[in-house]
Amino acid sequence: MNLMLCGGTGCIASGAPKVKQAIEEELLKRGLADEVQVVLTGCNGFCAMGPIMTVFPDGIFYNKLKPEHAARLVEEHVLKGRPVKELLFEEPVEKEKIPLLKDIGFFGNQRLIALRNRGLIDAERIEEYIARDGYQALAKVLTSMTPEEVIEEIKISGLRGRGGAGFPTGLKWEECRKYDRFPKYTICNGDEGDPGAFMDRSIMEGDPHSVLEGMAISAYAIGAEKGYIYVRAEYPLAIKRLQIAIEQARESGLLGENILDTGFNFDIEIYPGAGAFVCGESTALMYSLEGKRGMPRIKPPRSAESGLWGQPTNLNNVETYANVPPIILNGGAWFASIGTEGSKGTKVFALTGAINNVGLVEVPMGTTLRSLVFDIGGGIPKKRQFKAAQLGGPSGGCVPASLLDVQIDFDSLTEIGAMMGSGGVVVMDERTCMVDTARFFTAFSVDESCGKCIPCREGLKVMYDKMTDIVEGRGKEGDVEDLEKLGRMIKSTSHCGLGQSAPNPILSTIRHFRNEYDAHVREKKCPAKVCVELLLFEVNPEKCKMCGICFRNCPVQAIEWEKKQVARINKEKCTKCKTCIANCRFDAID
Ligand SMILES: Cc1cc2nc3c(=O)[nH]c(=O)nc-3n(C[C@H](O)[C@H](O)[C@H](O)COP(=O)(O)O)c2cc1C
Ligand code: SF4
Ligand code: SF4
Ligand code: SF4
Ligand code: FES
Repeated sequence: MNLMLCGGTGCIASGAPKVKQAIEEELLKRGLADEVQVVLTGCNGFCAMGPIMTVFPDGIFYNKLKPEHAARLVEEHVLKGRPVKELLFEEPVEKEKIPLLKDIGFFGNQRLIALRNRGLIDAERIEEYIARDGYQALAKVLTSMTPEEVIEEIKISGLRGRGGAGFPTGLKWEECRKYDRFPKYTICNGDEGDPGAFMDRSIMEGDPHSVLEGMAISAYAIGAEKGYIYVRAEYPLAIKRLQIAIEQARESGLLGENILDTGFNFDIEIYPGAGAFVCGESTALMYSLEGKRGMPRIKPPRSAESGLWGQPTNLNNVETYANVPPIILNGGAWFASIGTEGSKGTKVFALTGAINNVGLVEVPMGTTLRSLVFDIGGGIPKKRQFKAAQLGGPSGGCVPASLLDVQIDFDSLTEIGAMMGSGGVVVMDERTCMVDTARFFTAFSVDESCGKCIPCREGLKVMYDKMTDIVEGRGKEGDVEDLEKLGRMIKSTSHCGLGQSAPNPILSTIRHFRNEYDAHVREKKCPAKVCVELLLFEVNPEKCKMCGICFRNCPVQAIEWEKKQVARINKEKCTKCKTCIANCRFDAID
């Protein structure tokens, strides 16, 4: 029996190491230490429920484990074969306990390719990766395929880069192969600067060899002997696991000189980045790797022609590389049979916000937003209404409820003014003000602009200031039209992807939630009751049911209320914290 306990960053933070120790002590006490193993795996994507554990071979899933559960787990499950009911996952809507991992909507509706080894291996042991067909694809390309055949297979697969732009990977490799200036480089972009995104981190931590193998295959295809993985320094566990993986691969003859006795040489170095969002942009990343300030440069020349130190360079995202070995093993046609016409395979998403099952999920391209939010995400907590989802990170676009049936793929999302980006999905319920949300995302882009070009540096700040005026009650007629004009201008004149996409949150919310902008500008009202400056902090006597909930929750006793009396807010004491508004079930506070 194997107890696969999650050892990803989230579960470690919520106490997995102590749970491991407690279970191991319990097993030792009962003389079971040789028969039952506790294995620390990479992140399973369900971090909010952590620490989590799956028991193999039966597939029983436990969540929210604590060290004090160890004795019962061993006594009941390991010895008597009876799953411990209290520790099973509870379905958020029906409140039903679900014993098997495969029956939980969050897991059951996924299809794993990039995350194929999730929860199944110990990331620090190369043997476990190899036992799951690891490095078979590298062996296959080195012994039986020419670089051109590898590129052809990737082209057939239809794989498009998972780092955001969706550029076809096979074409990128083909172009890089064309240049016969050496040395060449292959780079893995593990910068992952989008707030809320942790897809790449999870792969680097949980299955680092899949990235190394993908990189080695790309190196063979383009003719490189050296690779770099650029990982933000804020990902220490990813760096540690990658380092261990590189050393183990070298010891096993899978990296370094004369790999698998085929004459192919390739080695990888890790470069910890300083954590600037713009350093994830490919040309800025290469400057940063060279020790210069990470600022994007104008393309062409493309990196394939002149990248790192002016040499031909291929750069792909972590998830892109992780998809490569299964494509080589199963064939490009297999991968192309999954997904939609223009977007093949699967995509890993980070589901966050107002959703029951927060976490990382991998689904076929073309899955609808509705299925992502309701079947996998378990819907919105407290029976609230879905209002919108922000797709594609801070510079993505908002998708409203009327478009819940949109298929999630590169092209469909672009059509509706959103984007795939790196796969961040922030779900919002009816308590969200779309104007304030768009302003929040714009603030991120203003802060992260590298300042090189004027439209992005100055234009975004002007947009942000205008949004601040609107949410604080100083909005004027014409502001919305100005924002639209400015946004279009910044998109078309900015130098890199940051400026080209940063106006998306504002533009998409104007497109889908124009009424909210009008309410702020014309009526000086925030319909979602979020923008403090537009709230009155007055109780509406017609709606007040005299329940006293606001009175009990006000942290500064600013509410006067007695039984069978309408509540009253003392404005001199009120700090405008909005606790009463959040708690009033009758929407009686304006
Ligand atoms: C501002 C900015 C930040 C980016 N950050 C990342 C990142 O963190 N990780 C990533 O893989 N790609 C990022 N990209 C996209 C990369 O520039 C590049 O397109 C991608 O890494 C290429 O790999 P792919 O073809 O496998 O997607 C960013 C782009 C921009 C404009
Ligand atoms: S668009 Fe923004 S981040 Fe990109 S180069 Fe210009 S100023 Fe820098
Ligand atoms: S919580 Fe709402 S309904 Fe209840 S007393 Fe306060 S204002 Fe009235
Ligand atoms: S906004 Fe905060 S401080 Fe003011 S009345 Fe409501 S709960 Fe009290
Ligand atoms: S860290 Fe355990 S599920 Fe993510």
